[in-house]
Amino acid sequence: MKLRCGLIGGRLVHSYSPQIHAELGDYDYKLFELKEDEVGPFLKRGEFDGLNVTIPYKKTVLPFINELSDNAARLGSVNTIVRRADGTLFGDNTDIFGTRKLIGLSGLDISGKKVLVLGSGGTGVTFMQAVRDLGGIAVNISRSGENNYGNIAKHIDAVMVMNATPVGMYPDTGKSPLDLSALPNVKCVLDAIYNPQKTALLLQAEKLGMKALNGLYMLVMQAVKSSELFTGNAIPEETAEAVYERIAAKMYTSETGSWAAPSPENRLKLLVINGPNINMLGIREPDIYGKNDYKALLGFISKSAEEAGVCVTCFQSNHEGAIVDEIQNALGKFDGIMINPAAYTHTSVAILDALKAVNIPAVEVHISDVSSREPFRQISYAGMACVKTYAGLGFEGYRQAILFLKQYLEEKHTYSKRNS
Ligand code: DQA
Repeated sequence: MKLRCGLIGGRLVHSYSPQIHAELGDYDYKLFELKEDEVGPFLKRGEFDGLNVTIPYKKTVLPFINELSDNAARLGSVNTIVRRADGTLFGDNTDIFGTRKLIGLSGLDISGKKVLVLGSGGTGVTFMQAVRDLGGIAVNISRSGENNYGNIAKHIDAVMVMNATPVGMYPDTGKSPLDLSALPNVKCVLDAIYNPQKTALLLQAEKLGMKALNGLYMLVMQAVKSSELFTGNAIPEETAEAVYERIAAKMYTSETGSWAAPSPENRLKLLVINGPNINMLGIREPDIYGKNDYKALLGFISKSAEEAGVCVTCFQSNHEGAIVDEIQNALGKFDGIMINPAAYTHTSVAILDALKAVNIPAVEVHISDVSSREPFRQISYAGMACVKTYAGLGFEGYRQAILFLKQYLEEKHTYSKRNS
């Protein structure tokens, strides 16, 4: 059986970790979007072999870890968890390894030299420690601390700037945390951000003749170290470098230098079908279905699809035959179907048969919690042809269904690619 690995965090739609780990080793790597109170129970259930941890849970996981590495202990944060044979959890922090590798890539010897670290969140703390580990003099620049953006000129001797703030990150590109022209001795600027490929800060650095590196190398290198911890196998330096090159080539388009979001033709195409009376949302039984109308649902679905990087087409009908026709027409045009057959859920063998006929992976969604309603709502015919059901989450069920289908279809795709 393959190792069960993955990433836990708050919002993971933009994560590139599954693609990176797919290049690093032959283990499953899944995304788990958790709420804060779900983190402890998830770790206690122990249905995993290795995990990465991202924002905002790098500290939340600490009480559930049995043994911390020296790095995790001194940084007070964990980004990698390994479940040992006896069920105990070992917590490490490989972000610092990635950071040291990024500083190494700059080619600048920082020992005894001043390095400015912008930002005092978790990434800032990691950057400060990495600089000290390499013998540098780390100075933290924050908005209101002793060393701030107003008195930056007193650090004219700084040779490196490292940005650990989110300023300039997609979609807020164009903003910069600092004007580098006040720091003439800086040779190199490193940015934790990797989307866009070049932030405004890095573009200015290049203009001033300074070396400019984004955070992708750091992201890949922390994954390399995590992967080694998951599998127990060392990854040779050349392999790690080759993976970085491949990921960078995939992520950035050379013409625009921007994040290579899949082009519309390459995005997964999902069909969303809503059955009878869903067009009456807002008016119909608001205590059960909420006060938002169908138009609001369409807006919510299209925003969720945009965030997930998939294409959706929405269809609604009050007629069983029209829904059957729509499902039949989906053949060859859509990768996945999300369906709320509404009242037809509980009566329509024809919709079930249509889903089976086209055999397109489908997910069932219900706004209300049908399982706690009348007995006649306890059967779902369409559900028998679906890989998963979301019920009782209101509009959120549609968002979760999109994320699930995306992951499901991508895994299937990787699997068939690997076997071809
Ligand atoms: C519904 C539940 C069905 O039982 C009902 O007939 C609907 C909506 C839901 O989304 O909760 O029309 O599918």
